[in-house]
Order: sequence, then C-alpha cells, then structure tokens
Amino acid sequence: MMAAPALSKIAQGDLTKDLDLTPDELLGLLELASDVKRSPELYRSALAGKSIALLFEKPSLRTRMTFELAIQQLGGFAIVNEGRVGMREPLKDMARNLDRWVNAIVARTFFQKTVDDLARWSSVPVINALSDMFHPCQALADMQTIQEHFGTARGLKFAFIGDGNNMANSLMLNAARLGMDFALATPEKYEANPAVIDQAREIAAQSRSKITVSYDPAEAARNADAIYTDVWASMGAENEAAERRTAFADYQVDEDLFTHAAPHAVFMHCLPAKRGEEVTDNVIESERSIVFDQAENRLHAQKALLLMLL
Ligand code: CP
Ligand code: NVA
Repeated sequence: MMAAPALSKIAQGDLTKDLDLTPDELLGLLELASDVKRSPELYRSALAGKSIALLFEKPSLRTRMTFELAIQQLGGFAIVNEGRVGMREPLKDMARNLDRWVNAIVARTFFQKTVDDLARWSSVPVINALSDMFHPCQALADMQTIQEHFGTARGLKFAFIGDGNNMANSLMLNAARLGMDFALATPEKYEANPAVIDQAREIAAQSRSKITVSYDPAEAARNADAIYTDVWASMGAENEAAERRTAFADYQVDEDLFTHAAPHAVFMHCLPAKRGEEVTDNVIESERSIVFDQAENRLHAQKALLLMLL
C-alpha cells in the first residue's frame, strides 16, 4: 500500500479564523483534502491515539457529523460537550482542563472572542467550527468544491447574495487568497464586517482579484460562475427573523437572478437552507445546485485540516 504523503503543519497551530492559514497552507490543505477524498484508506490510522473535544454552544448537523466521522475514520476519538462555554466555570479553567485530556479542541460558539480565548488559554490546537464572525471549515469545503467543479478558483467570479454574515466574511477572505473575484450584495444595514472587507481587498490586490460590495443582487450576479447564499437570520439572530424577511425580500436567489450569471453558473449554500426565503425550491433542487457536494466535502476538508494541525 502507498504511504500517505508528507504533511506540512499550520504555523500557528490554530484555525480560529480563515487567515490563520497562509495562502500556501490553504493550497496545501485543499490538495490534501482531494487526496484524502480519493484515497481515504491511506489515512485510516493517522490520528491513532488522539482524542479531540467538540464543543457546541449552538445546534449543528453537518459540522458535528463530519467532525465526528472524520476523527473516527482517521483512527482518533471524538468527545462532544454541548452548552455555553464559560457559564458553569471560567473559560480559562475549562480550556486548561481540556488540554490535559485531548489533542485538539473544535468549538462552535456564539462569539468569536470565545474561540480566540479558548486558543489563548489551551495549549492544543483550536478549530473554529462557526462563530458570529467566521465559518472557516465551511469555507474550506466550499473552496474544495469550487476547485473540483471548475478545475481552479483563479479567475472565476463568486457572488454572495444576502446577509453580510460569518459565511460572507470567510468566503470573501478565501476567494481573495485563491485569486477569485468576489461580489457581495447585501441590503443596507446588513453589510459584511468593514475590517474583513479591507483585509480581503489587501489580499485581492496581491492575488490580482477583485472584491466588490453593493446593494444590487443583479450587479453582483452579473457573469458570476457561482452564486452563493445563506440564511437571512443566522443562529443567534432568530428574534430578528421577521424584520429580516422584510429587509431581504429583494435578495432571494431565484431563477431570474441566474439570468444575469454565466450560463454554466452553479448554486451554492452552506445549509441549512430556508426554501422560499433566501433561495427558491426550484434553484436549490436544480441541476445547478452543488449544495450536497459542499456538504460532502466538509468531511474531506476537515480530515485534511486535522491532519495538518495534528
Ligand atoms: N453548514 C453547517 O455548518 O451546517 P451545520 O450548522 O448543520 O453544522
Ligand atoms: N450563517 C449561518 C450559517 C449556518 C451554517 C449561521 O451562523 O447560523
């Protein structure tokens, strides 16, 4: 049997945010993710003897299942804890308990600060499994899906329509690093984080790509190779759902929006989706939709991430 290829390591040891990966590490990770997908048998005991804690402050299907499966399929052991971090005892105590027992911590938290503080107080790698600011694991799987579908991300146009949320932030940063144009259309008052836009523009200047932000979905979708959307009210903002439905009414991804895009354009969504809100049932069920490829790649991309971090 062939040996698994040598792995490079993520310099800082954490993935609390997308930019913890250098552009080279990102490319290496995506290559490894394809390899893991092609030849999973080569990695069956790569995490033998390793235990990983999964902390969930919020619900999850994809992230929880794919991390548990990834760890199991790599020969490691996953242990899950649900509930708010830092409520029953100080976060810094929890972090310093966990790092005596496990080799890594994966955390889905309400606030980015919680993931950052876990990384600060624990001596083992910490992975952001979604916070209010970023969803780097989803973005990795999405970049893998784009590369698989189009061969390369470089030179493509990626449109994100809807809320300037954690997904928009993570996708923008990754698109810029891979040399892909990124066009964001949000309603007023729901723009992406301005500091993230600035960062993405700096990166895009290096990679010769373009970041545009507007309030115009048709303009963002113009000649796009991929149109991506996400829920209008993210976890933690459910109480704003009604007012958001009004604010986002013109931002639904439907067949009409695709008339502005390239004829071959794909539809993407991190899921869970609210059909009839951010996307029509027609679009998500159409031949353009690659949402289940994205979901599958969560497994492979996270295996690659764990292999690089551990
Ligand atoms: N896309 C995603 O992270 O899904 P879950 O919330 O189900 O984990
Ligand atoms: N923006 C969504 C993504 C869910 C995977 C949320 O944070 O709820």
